[in-house]
Amino acid sequence: MMQEQILAKFKEIFGAEGDIRLYFAPGRVNLIGEHTDYNGGHVFPCALTIGTYGAVRQREDNKLRFFSMNFEKFGVLESSLDDLKPDKAANWTNYPKGVMWAFKEKGMQVTKGMDLLLFGNIPNGSGLSSSASVEVLTGYILKDLFGFEVTNQDLALIGQYSENNFNGVNCGIMDQFAIAMGKADNAIFLDTATLKFDYAPIKLTGAKIIISCTNKKRGLGDSKYNERRSECETALEELKSVVSINSLGDLTEEQFEQHKDAIQDETRKKRAKHAVYENQRTLKAVDALKSGDVKLFGELMNASHVSLRDDYEVTGIELDTMVEEAWKIEGVIGSRMTGAGFGGCTVSIVKEEAVDTFIEKVGKAYEEKIGYAGDFYVVEIGDGPTRLS
Ligand code: GLA
Repeated sequence: MMQEQILAKFKEIFGAEGDIRLYFAPGRVNLIGEHTDYNGGHVFPCALTIGTYGAVRQREDNKLRFFSMNFEKFGVLESSLDDLKPDKAANWTNYPKGVMWAFKEKGMQVTKGMDLLLFGNIPNGSGLSSSASVEVLTGYILKDLFGFEVTNQDLALIGQYSENNFNGVNCGIMDQFAIAMGKADNAIFLDTATLKFDYAPIKLTGAKIIISCTNKKRGLGDSKYNERRSECETALEELKSVVSINSLGDLTEEQFEQHKDAIQDETRKKRAKHAVYENQRTLKAVDALKSGDVKLFGELMNASHVSLRDDYEVTGIELDTMVEEAWKIEGVIGSRMTGAGFGGCTVSIVKEEAVDTFIEKVGKAYEEKIGYAGDFYVVEIGDGPTRLS
């Protein structure tokens, strides 16, 4: 149904002739391992069954015509392959344009323009990686249309390269990797220092994953994301004067405690502590899950939130309220913020019989305290990018 509507819209906007193809790339949620991916640590995200659809038709000239069903008021936005520069006024097109630019930088020239229509059913700016979803989707489309020889892992790296260098956000690899390499019913246990990864089946017998959206918008670029990243880089340099490491992810908790006084500033010490402890928590959480200890997994999720709130300071009243209200509900196994923070979503593992109560009670308490409503999604873990027709 959705697919038909998207294709119908494409034909209405761009005309019905020619070879029109339809693709999908998921969004992602991170279960644990937050702000570790640019610190050489581990992450544990999964792709979702919600994401971004893209209908496309190649053109004979160099023109790029974009239309988003999520931002219809912008109408058709035109650009050209000869002019791939970030455009402040027409924000979302910077993601597909950035990927086309990145392919060119990597020696894969996109030789023909295209008409591209997008529809996303991930809430924008919610911390579920709508932008990485568009990046991986665009890469997948370019690969299919032009026959570029790239793996899905390459698409993740190209997406990150474009986000870093075209869009100016110094994100790590987690989002693009989780999306490009997604596998239904599995989370991805990724070592961001080596890109070695394993799929871990998520068998939550009798429980569901709920994403609670605070509806507080978060723009990575104007948030404190880049600042946190540079605080960690400085802390790493300080630690390197006393211990031989390549990244904060190399340290155990004990090693950190032993050497932490090399960090000259209390705030930076807290940031580095989070990066080290969160990485270790992620290792423990994946072990817990493998041995069927979902309870321990949930406790580690809770501890992750506390660390993000108190040491990394990337939560805020909206995320804290959502999580603290969730912790009060019987049947909640674990709950934490997910993604960059400062707004966006939380992820909770909730016993099936408690799902309705969770949505009702957390929803009510959140609205009372914050003054506007949140949104709740019971989600499934999906596959990576695909061509639909
Ligand atoms: C954003 C970034 C990721 C990662 C998370 C925090 O989603 O894009 O690379 O750093 O924040 O874990």
